[in-house]
Amino acid sequence: MASVRQLFLSHVAQTSEIPLGLEVERAEGMYIYDTQGKKYLDLNSGISVSSLGHRHPRVIEAIKNQVDKHLHTMVYGEHIQQSQVAMAKLLTDQLPSSLNSVYYFMSGTEVVEAAMKLSKRASERYEIIACRNAYHGSTQGAESLRSDHEYSQAFLPLVPGIKHIDFNNEEDLSRITSKTAAVVVEPVQAEAGVIIPHGQYLKKLRKRCTEVGALLILDEIQTGFGRTGHLFALSKYGVVPDILCLGKAMGGGMPIGAMVCGRELMLAFTKSPMLGHITTFGGHPVSCAAAHGNLSAILDENITESVLEKEKLFHEKLQHPIIKEVRSSGLMMAVELTKRKYLKHVVAHAMELGAVIDYFLFNNRSFRLAPPLIISESEIEKACYILIQACTFAEAKYSNK
Ligand SMILES: Cc1ncc(COP(=O)(O)O)c(C=O)c1O
Repeated sequence: MASVRQLFLSHVAQTSEIPLGLEVERAEGMYIYDTQGKKYLDLNSGISVSSLGHRHPRVIEAIKNQVDKHLHTMVYGEHIQQSQVAMAKLLTDQLPSSLNSVYYFMSGTEVVEAAMKLSKRASERYEIIACRNAYHGSTQGAESLRSDHEYSQAFLPLVPGIKHIDFNNEEDLSRITSKTAAVVVEPVQAEAGVIIPHGQYLKKLRKRCTEVGALLILDEIQTGFGRTGHLFALSKYGVVPDILCLGKAMGGGMPIGAMVCGRELMLAFTKSPMLGHITTFGGHPVSCAAAHGNLSAILDENITESVLEKEKLFHEKLQHPIIKEVRSSGLMMAVELTKRKYLKHVVAHAMELGAVIDYFLFNNRSFRLAPPLIISESEIEKACYILIQACTFAEAKYSNK
């Protein structure tokens, strides 16, 4: 009989020729357990999703309560569903008062699509500016924001009207003009390998958008819900966007994303044309309940409070001759190695030693660390011990190859 691994390889789509292939039995807190009973410290959180660890009790309880009441009843924005309303209220209470209306989706890329559409509709312009080396999703519109032309060549034609600027380059801000509908930016560039905004860059970007009447779309899909040590990076970097994009950690492991903006702006999807953007499953009541449980736990348990201390401990412990630099914003970290050839060996060896780490899309010298924010001091020490061992292994075995 075929094994589960063989059936996976035959019948489940893979997106690379070298899938990590961890055969998951269960996951709890900081750990993932494979079918052989091996325990892995999760330093990746499913790419910034399980920020409260796996199966947080508040998330599980909220899901169970909702499942006992109702599942899907009607496409989005028609029925009044208690879990959607409660989450929208709790979420907007945490945000600047101008961000007061929530449109739910199932994934981050859908949020970005909607933000692009909304900004075109509201501004009656069509040029959208994104930063080089940003990733905003894989659907057609979000994918068109990618600057890597070698990659996007395979999917031509892309959505027209997209221009690129360099993140942190203040001279490039003059390319944002009265023809620009919107600028899409991550507060911290994630897939470029954790690139932090310099000085007043985001504030100057905000100012330029306001001057020319372009909307600022802030993609906090990876930074949101505590990852940077603030509930949202917009407060860390002092910038209020016109449209905020959320996803990933929002649902505590359930699929949900949200576009948040001002009520007036959101009305552009309500009138002329009516039903300007619709979704069947966006704002699914179970995902909304999970998101409410997740955000309540983040707030009640002061989860963001210890993030900066934990970040510091990682910096102290991650010292090794093949580690060139550790870049971070809270527990969103990139560990850059001195040589590219070490990367895959460090990732593979860390996995053998029982720690899950990952690559970035646009940085082939760094590995990603995005552990659940609940990681304890002793787990950080354990994680760093494994990572240092993996670096020593890679250096000893491959420095002369
Ligand atoms: C910054 C950012 N935006 C958007 C997305 C797309 O989100 P999703 O994979 O949920 O479509 C991602 C996913 O990695 C992301 O990191």
